[in-house]
Amino acid sequence: MSQPIRIALAKGRLEKQCRALFARAGYDCSALENPGRRLIHALPHPEAAQLDAVLSKAPDVVTYVSRGVCALGVAGKDTIMEQGGPFYEMLDLKLGACRFSLAAPKGEDFFSGAGHKRVATKYPEVTRRYLSGLGMDAEIIRIEGSCELAPLLGLADAITDIVETGDTLRENGLVILREMFPLTARLIVNVAAYKLRRKDIDCLIEALRRAAETC
Ligand code: PRP
Repeated sequence: MSQPIRIALAKGRLEKQCRALFARAGYDCSALENPGRRLIHALPHPEAAQLDAVLSKAPDVVTYVSRGVCALGVAGKDTIMEQGGPFYEMLDLKLGACRFSLAAPKGEDFFSGAGHKRVATKYPEVTRRYLSGLGMDAEIIRIEGSCELAPLLGLADAITDIVETGDTLRENGLVILREMFPLTARLIVNVAAYKLRRKDIDCLIEALRRAAETC
């Protein structure tokens, strides 16, 4: 049996669906059910190379794969677009579907007037590109946590963020102004690792593709 392949998995909203997908693809994911504080877990497979799952924050998934310390990673398209990097985006896992949106307090006329506009976000690069595509030169304020707070606190006129159910916006009096693009989780692959482990990685991709289609 070949060496394990290290895969970085984003903790948080994708975690449960991701575990179910890998289980459908034939991996024994029982170690991920109660991971405790341990951060690396073996996911054996009866026929394919074992995966060593590295539980990470979403932006770190991209860093680990770009730098080659993990051959593979699963991260949202939002994080991938924000960070970019030298890796292949190999597969849409069709998990964690949501919309990247521009939102503002109900009644706020964000697009009118020539005044200075401020947008709070965890995704400054994506936001800057989108707003400059609209010809807007807004100030981007980087926020690490719930950016829905920013308009409530008077820190920003609008936000950009991922919207899944819409509950967070609704409960904080915000409405979507523009749906910027749809998002799902993707499998990313380190360029050098793909050269070295192509057969094993193609085999995993095929198993995940089949599992994603049966969701
Ligand atoms: C995300 C996002 C929104 C919320 C949207 O945060 O930043 O705050 O989910 O989801 P909803 O439309 O279903 O309400 P997440 O819960 O992933 O936590 P985070 O702030 O730690 O990124």
